[in-house]
Amino acid sequence: MKMLWLCVALVLIGAQKEAAADVSEVSGYWYSVLLASDHRDKIEENGSMRVFVERIDILEDSSLSVKFHTIDNGQCAAHELVCDPTEEEGVYTVEYNGHNVFRILDMVSDEYVIFYLKNGDNGEGFHLMELYGRGPDVRSEIREKFVQLCQEYGIVKENILDLTKTDRCLQARDQA
Ligand SMILES: *[C@@H]1O[C@H](CO)[C@@H](O)[C@H](O)[C@H]1NC(C)=O
Repeated sequence: MKMLWLCVALVLIGAQKEAAADVSEVSGYWYSVLLASDHRDKIEENGSMRVFVERIDILEDSSLSVKFHTIDNGQCAAHELVCDPTEEEGVYTVEYNGHNVFRILDMVSDEYVIFYLKNGDNGEGFHLMELYGRGPDVRSEIREKFVQLCQEYGIVKENILDLTKTDRCLQARDQA
């Protein structure tokens, strides 16, 4: 009996890991929930990296198309960026306010995804962490997990912004 439970547990753990690693499941609509950076000014109002995701698509050549909004002069502006895959699964590069490399740190594809992004190519740089939800907000356990991950990556709590309390250009989305 014990052996049977061990098998069930191992199968469940295995299934969970597999789901988290499947990059293709990042496709679809997302909402920016929390945004964090070691350079807070980059994500504050009018900051160059204050972006609100709407949709991610995986293109045929494995690049990642990201649709998002920014607020420019008080107006929501739509953008679409194509991010190039790298040799490492789940790691992409994109030019946007400089050179960026980002990876999926954690994902439960029907609930949330956490990205880690590094900007800059000559030592002068900053990093960014993003928590996206499939809905406009996520469970508090996931928020806590994100705060914990930020700490591990050297971003203090004070530099984590709750975007659910600000204008995220929800009114500008194709699909609310
Ligand atoms: C952001 O930009 C807008 C429009 O240029 C301006 O009115 C506003 O004061 C700026 N906000 C901050 C925090 O700098």
